[in-house]
Amino acid sequence: MAGNVMGQADQAQEQGRTPTPHEITFELNGNQQTVQLDPRTTLVDLLREHLHLPGTKKGCDHGACGACTVHVNGERVLSCLTLAATLNDAKVTTIEGISPEDELHPIQEAFLRCDAYQCGYCTPGQIMSGIACIEEGHARNGEEEAREWMSGNLCRCSAYPNILAALRQTAGAESAEDPASKVKVLSLKEARN
Ligand code: FES
Ligand code: FES
Repeated sequence: MAGNVMGQADQAQEQGRTPTPHEITFELNGNQQTVQLDPRTTLVDLLREHLHLPGTKKGCDHGACGACTVHVNGERVLSCLTLAATLNDAKVTTIEGISPEDELHPIQEAFLRCDAYQCGYCTPGQIMSGIACIEEGHARNGEEEAREWMSGNLCRCSAYPNILAALRQTAGAESAEDPASKVKVLSLKEARN
């Protein structure tokens, strides 16, 4: 009898450790997906580990760096803080889904033109936030506003000036040119005067 009671307790404990799989159906980059998942799975882990879409990056895993930014129903979210189980019927867009195959999104072209990345680790999150920032209307009203609305995206390589230029060029707030073309290289004589 005692053994039976212990068996039930063990079973309950085991069930506590392993939640029942949860099924969701959602749209991912234009395709319907149905997945069975542990309800504790975050969206960034679903994308990277289960659906093999490594474009979305995991930096801090704590909502502090913006590397994991994707769009859910057209709005930017931190996928490390989003439980995938909450996304039934949602529309999710990742960096892999922002433009048709073999074409670049205008902001990706601007990142190339402006040399807006160094190691590139933050770049997918910067681009997803940048697209949202433009659509929210925060990229045209001056550099300070764009900086403020991109402040959740950290770049350990400090590519910020060129990221800002790429963003504002895509929004039409600056002419589409390489920011380096405005840099004047002074001769030693000019620098001394
Ligand atoms: S990995 Fe999500 S905010 Fe840093
Ligand atoms: S380009 Fe290296 S972290 Fe931003």
